[in-house]
Amino acid sequence: MTTTRPLLEVNDLHVGFPIRKGFFQRTVGEVRAVSGVSFSVPRGTSFGLVGESGCGKTTVARAVLQLLEPTSGVIRFDGEDVAKMDAVALSRFRGRVQAVFQDPFSSLNPRMSTGRIISEPLRVHRLKPESEIKAEVARLLDICGLPARFADLYPHEMSGGQRQRVGIARALAMNPELIVCDEAVSALDVSIQAQIINLLEGLQKELGLTYLFIGHDLSVVRHICDQVAVMYLGRIAETAPSDPLFASPKHPYTQALIDAVPNPDPDYEAGREIVPLEGEVPSPANPPSGCFFHPRCPRATDRCRREVPRLDPVEPGHMAACWETGTLVPAG
Ligand SMILES: Nc1ncnc2c1ncn2[C@@H]1O[C@H](COP(=O)(O)OP(=O)(O)OP(=O)(O)O)[C@@H](O)[C@H]1O
Ligand SMILES: [Mg+2]
Repeated sequence: MTTTRPLLEVNDLHVGFPIRKGFFQRTVGEVRAVSGVSFSVPRGTSFGLVGESGCGKTTVARAVLQLLEPTSGVIRFDGEDVAKMDAVALSRFRGRVQAVFQDPFSSLNPRMSTGRIISEPLRVHRLKPESEIKAEVARLLDICGLPARFADLYPHEMSGGQRQRVGIARALAMNPELIVCDEAVSALDVSIQAQIINLLEGLQKELGLTYLFIGHDLSVVRHICDQVAVMYLGRIAETAPSDPLFASPKHPYTQALIDAVPNPDPDYEAGREIVPLEGEVPSPANPPSGCFFHPRCPRATDRCRREVPRLDPVEPGHMAACWETGTLVPAG
C-alpha cells in the first residue's frame, strides 16, 4: 500500500523568546520569532524557506530538529507528533533527521580528523562494528565526491566546499530521511555552490532524501525546491510550487524580493512592474498591527492595517496572505 502521508508536517507553529532585563532578569516582553507557521513536506521532495534576515527561518529549523521547544503548535514526522515521542522514538528521530549548517568550519570539530568526524555518529549509535568503520567512512566520502585519503585530513586542511562535503557525509552516516539544510551553500563561491547543489540533488535522487532547504538566494532555492514558502516577520506570506511562485507571485512582499534581484533579460526588465522594498523589517518584539508587511507595502489599505490576512489559496497549491491579492500585475 502506498502512503500519501507527508514526511514532515508543521501545524500552527509559534515560537516566542522571552526578553529579559535588569539584575533579576525579569521577563519584560517577547520576541515573536515564529507566529503560526504551517506547511507540509511530502517524502522525497524539497521544501524551501526564504525571507529576509531575522524572519524566523532558523527558528523553524531548530523547532523541527527538536533543538528548541515551541511555544505552541504541532510538528509531525512521518505521522508522529514529535513532542509526544518517548525516549526510544526520539533517539530514532535524531537519526532520521539530520542537519547541514552554513559554516562547516564552525560546525566541524577542528581537533578531529574527517574520518573521526564522519564516524562519530556511527560509533555513538553503534551502527557499525569497529572493523567496518573505515570502509564505511570511505564509502560516505566517495558518495560525497571526496577520495578516501580525506579521512586523515583536519577541517583547516580543506577548502570550504570540501568541508561542506564532509558535513554532508557526516549527516548521511545516520542514513537519514530528512535533511535540514540551513544556509548550507550560502557561504560558498558561486561555482562551488553549484557543485554542492548538484551533490545534494544527486543524493536526493539516489537515496530518496527529503530536504527542508533554507536560503536567502532566491535563484538557488528556486532551482533546488519543489515548493517554496516566503516568510516575513515570523509568518508565511506566500507559498507555492517554485515555478509559479517566481513567475507569478501573488504577495507584494514576494514580488519585492524578486524585484530586488536584477534580471539579465532587458525585455523582462522593461515589461515588469517594480514594487520597491523600502524601510527596515520591524522588530518581532513589537510587530505592526494587521498584516505585518503593511508599513512597507505600497498597496496597503486600512483593512491591511487592522486585520491579519489569512493564508488563502489563490490557485491549486498556491497560497498568499494578502488582502490585496489580485491587484498585482503579472511580471514579464
Ligand atoms: N535564542 C534566541 N533568543 C532570543 N531571540 C532569538 C533567539 N533566536 C532567534 N531569536 C530572534 O528571533 C528572530 C528570528 O531569528 P532567526 O534566526 O530564526 O531568523 P533567520 O530568518 O534565520 O535569519 P537569518 O537569515 O539572519 O539567518 C530574530 O528576531 C532573532 O533575533
Ligand atoms: Mg538563519
